[in-house]
Amino acid sequence: MKPIDRVMATEKGKLKNPFDYKDPKIAEEGHKIYMGLSCNGCHGGGGGGGMCPPLTNETWVYGGDDDTLFRLITLGSQELQKNGYSRKGQEGVVGPMPPYKDLIDDETKLWKAIAWIRTVWKGREEKINW
Ligand code: HEC
Repeated sequence: MKPIDRVMATEKGKLKNPFDYKDPKIAEEGHKIYMGLSCNGCHGGGGGGGMCPPLTNETWVYGGDDDTLFRLITLGSQELQKNGYSRKGQEGVVGPMPPYKDLIDDETKLWKAIAWIRTVWKGREEKINW
């Protein structure tokens, strides 16, 4: 299924990554997908940021759970906010996240990329909500 169809078919808050980010094979595939989609151009090859917010720190602009990240990447930040998600955190760099709904043909790719993002995150364990 395409990510956008999954977003449309699923109630708010209910999207959950079916992959285990602790599986190094999944994470490696996810990193390739992340690079292939040029996410690194804005977030850096290791997710540490640069032009855009880091994916490695404890601040999540809209929330760090699977549901929010899947929707954010699919819809982009402007469309996400029209769907009832609001800004909670503030990163040093502010700008819109572009939508990926036309660039990702299969939801499993997006979930693997999100799985990889979990592996580069450097926050405290008690902050994990995924
Ligand atoms: C053109 C630059 C750009 C590209 C390319 C891009 N992003 Fe983003 N991304 C952003 C910006 C800007 C934000 C912050 C949005 C905001 O503050 O509303 C963001 C936010 C995020 C967040 C939330 C970060 C946080 O701290 O809350 C994640 C996760 C994310 N992007 C993942 C991705 C992934 C995965 C890809 C590739 C599929 C990608 N991004 C491609 C610019 C980009």
